[in-house]
Amino acid sequence: MIHTLPRRPSVPNRPPGPGFSIPGQRLLAFRRDPTGLLTGLAQTYGDIVQFRFAGQTAFLLNHPDFIQQVLVTEHSNFTKGRALHRMRLVLGHGLLTSEGSDHQQARRLVQPVFHHERIADYAATMAAEAERTGATWRNGATFDVAKAMNHLTLRIVGRTLFGADLAGQEERIAAVLDDLFVLSDPVHLLLAPLLAWLPTATARRFHESKEFFDRLIYGLIDERRQSGPGQGDLLDMLLASVDEETGRPPDDQFIRDQALTLLLAGHETTANALTWCWHLLAAHPQSEARLHEEVGRVLPAGKLPGMADLGDLPYTRSVLSESLRLYPPAWVIGRSAIDDCVIGGYPVPAGSMIILSQWVTHRDPRYFAHADSFLPDRWLSDGRSERPKFAYFPFGGGPRVCIGAQFAWTEGVLLLATLARRWQLLCPADSRPVRMDPRVTLRPQGGLWMEVKERIGRLGH
Ligand code: HEM
Repeated sequence: MIHTLPRRPSVPNRPPGPGFSIPGQRLLAFRRDPTGLLTGLAQTYGDIVQFRFAGQTAFLLNHPDFIQQVLVTEHSNFTKGRALHRMRLVLGHGLLTSEGSDHQQARRLVQPVFHHERIADYAATMAAEAERTGATWRNGATFDVAKAMNHLTLRIVGRTLFGADLAGQEERIAAVLDDLFVLSDPVHLLLAPLLAWLPTATARRFHESKEFFDRLIYGLIDERRQSGPGQGDLLDMLLASVDEETGRPPDDQFIRDQALTLLLAGHETTANALTWCWHLLAAHPQSEARLHEEVGRVLPAGKLPGMADLGDLPYTRSVLSESLRLYPPAWVIGRSAIDDCVIGGYPVPAGSMIILSQWVTHRDPRYFAHADSFLPDRWLSDGRSERPKFAYFPFGGGPRVCIGAQFAWTEGVLLLATLARRWQLLCPADSRPVRMDPRVTLRPQGGLWMEVKERIGRLGH
């Protein structure tokens, strides 16, 4: 339980943690190997670790109960961390970066786009786009699967939420996104307020990227205004909405912020989840064979999977679950304590940085036997019900839980099934070990180069 404390905490102790370090030293260690640093702290000091980080008092929480307290039970005592607030430079006050009543209003407004019936409508588009991607692959070709998944999920979010075909623009959007995400680097993060006027190449690219996205999103809004309502997608919903306080339509900036947030949050994470799935399957031929058996049995020749098939693809789903455990695309969540409170019996002062890491918790052997091994079967057995809920939280939790979680589960399973039905992805003979690049999301460094082998022809022969 988290209790709000009187201003002068009566609990005198402090959690274990590393002592003094040279200013900036830990920040640089984090920059070099963020997952390694957090794992080391958790293994050395336990369920709650206190340390100085980027000029702040930080608490790393490694126990599911503490994670639940922050995300659910006492969520109103924690705001989004500094990193996400800085993302406002890009995303404005969209769903991901807004707080309080602004957030509640945006969430209510956007929620209908993610209702179950809507996702069932999107399923056909998801499978069709995956088939379209697979149709461009050539037997024996080697290419960057991370990039292919990124382009695929971007086109899906474009068509389902914006009624727009973004084919041909994927490369540019991915490059621009990279320039914007310089803000996630902890060193740039500290400098973020200066970015507006510093005459550096990074600042220039940042501004150009922001302008590119503004043009793209305002272009989509203008087109929709001229063409009139579409299929009841996100843009229709935003354009038809009224501000709860003023009773008037929201301004274009509000619509732009929500739309850009969903365009960006809605593709990069799922693309990474799928990329890691292919990597893990290639390294575990027995799991791959079971996946191939399942999709071959459930999807007769030439049939694309749809919403109705999801229940018949439990192994495919468990591959995705296990990949989200081992390589969670959202690998860390930051918060800031508003008031003094107590976590795990220790005082946590107002203003402290709170760090929750899916990467660390998902690999905790107390909750996952053989925690570092890829074992999709663990998601098919009953054992998972004994696990504390927040031992596994790839989509966060509480009022800020990922609004696209259902969308992502559906998309992940359908894309895996559609592509694995026809294609096998292999590690090239000369491949080097894959290294991680944990930034805003957890990506493979330099992409993921794989070779594709055709299992069956397009018509299933
Ligand atoms: C595997 C795929 C995905 C993962 C792992 C993921 C993960 C997450 C996590 C952990 C959060 C909570 C962040 C926090 O509490 O600070 C979040 C929030 C969010 N996600 Fe996702 N996400 C995924 C896919 C999607 C998709 C497909 C969409 C939209 C189409 C989406 C849109 C959002 C939005 C708008 C928020 C902010 C919600 C709010 O604050 O109310 N995500 N996501």
